[in-house]
Amino acid sequence: MLTTIQAGNTIQQPKICLDHFVSTEQLSTALVEALIHRTLEIKRMHPSQYPKVEHALISNLFFEPSTRTHLSFQVAQRHLGMEVIEFDPATSSVKKGETLSDTVLTLQALGISTVVVRSSEEKYYEALINDPNLTVSVVNGGDGSGQHPSQSLLDVTTIYEEFGFFKDLKIAIAGDLSHSRVARSNAELLYRLGAKLYFCGPHEWYDSTYDRFGEYVELNDVIEFLDVLMLLRVQHERHEDPRAELLREAYHYNYGLTLQREDRMKSSAIIMHPAPVNRDVEIADELVTCQRSRIYRQMENGMFARMAILEAIIHGQHEKESINALS
Ligand code: CP
Repeated sequence: MLTTIQAGNTIQQPKICLDHFVSTEQLSTALVEALIHRTLEIKRMHPSQYPKVEHALISNLFFEPSTRTHLSFQVAQRHLGMEVIEFDPATSSVKKGETLSDTVLTLQALGISTVVVRSSEEKYYEALINDPNLTVSVVNGGDGSGQHPSQSLLDVTTIYEEFGFFKDLKIAIAGDLSHSRVARSNAELLYRLGAKLYFCGPHEWYDSTYDRFGEYVELNDVIEFLDVLMLLRVQHERHEDPRAELLREAYHYNYGLTLQREDRMKSSAIIMHPAPVNRDVEIADELVTCQRSRIYRQMENGMFARMAILEAIIHGQHEKESINALS
C-alpha cells in the first residue's frame, strides 16, 4: 500500500507501508519498485541522514543458521535506531517445547512489535499472520525451501542498480533449484518484472514449478548471451538422495561456473550468488571476487534493502495506529 504525505508545501515521496513482509507474491509490482527505489535512496544517504524509527522493539528469531541475513538485519536495525531484543533459540523455552506462536505471543506481551523469523518450516508465517491474537508484524528471513523475500529485494535491487531496467534481461538461475528458496522467490519476481528467465542445473534438482517462469536449458547453451548468471548454493543439508554425493563431485565440471565458462560470458554480464558460496563447486574459487562478480555488492545492498523493509513495516504500524485512533 502506498500513501502520499505532505510536509508544509513540499510534496514528499509516497510513504511505503507494509503490514508484514513474508513472500514476493504478497508484494505488488509497484510496491517492489518503490522498495527498490527506497533501498537505493537510503544507500545514497550519508549515515547521519538515515531515517530513524525510534521506540520500535524488534526481535530476530533465527531457527536455522545464517550469517548475512541475520547480521544485515541487525545492522539495519541499528542504523534505524530500533531496539533489538536478543533471542537465542538454543537457550529459550523453545528447548522445552514452546511453539513459535506461543513464543511470538510472549514477545508481543513484552511490547515487541516486529519479529524477523527464519525457520526450516515452509510457510510458518501463515499461522502467525492469520492468528487473531497476534498483532506483531512478521518479516520472513527464509522459510525452508519456500521463500526468501528480503534476498529477492536485494537481488532485484542489485540488478536494477547495474542495468536500470528488467525488461528482456536474460537471466539464468543455475543450480540446486528444487531446494532453493532464493530461486523460488527470485523466479516469481523477476518474471513479473519482465526478465527472460532460464533455469540450469542437474535434472535431479530441477522442479517443474519453474516451467511457468522460463525455460530449462543447458548452461553451456546460454552462457554467451546472458546478462546475469545467478548461481545457487548446493544445499548439502537438504539432500537425502544417496546419489547427491556423486552429483556434487561432478557438479563443478558439469554445471558450475568454471574459468572456461566465465571466459565465454559477455563483457557486460554479471555473476550473482546469494552466498554462502561452496568455492570450486558452484563457482571457481578465483571468480568469487572477480571483476564481474556482484556477490559482495549483493551483501552490501542487503543491508540497505532490509532498512527499506523495516522502515515500511514501521510506517505500516504507525498508519494502523492512526486509523485505530480515529475509529
Ligand atoms: N544469503 C543468505 O541467506 O545467507 P545466510 O544464510 O548467511 O543468511
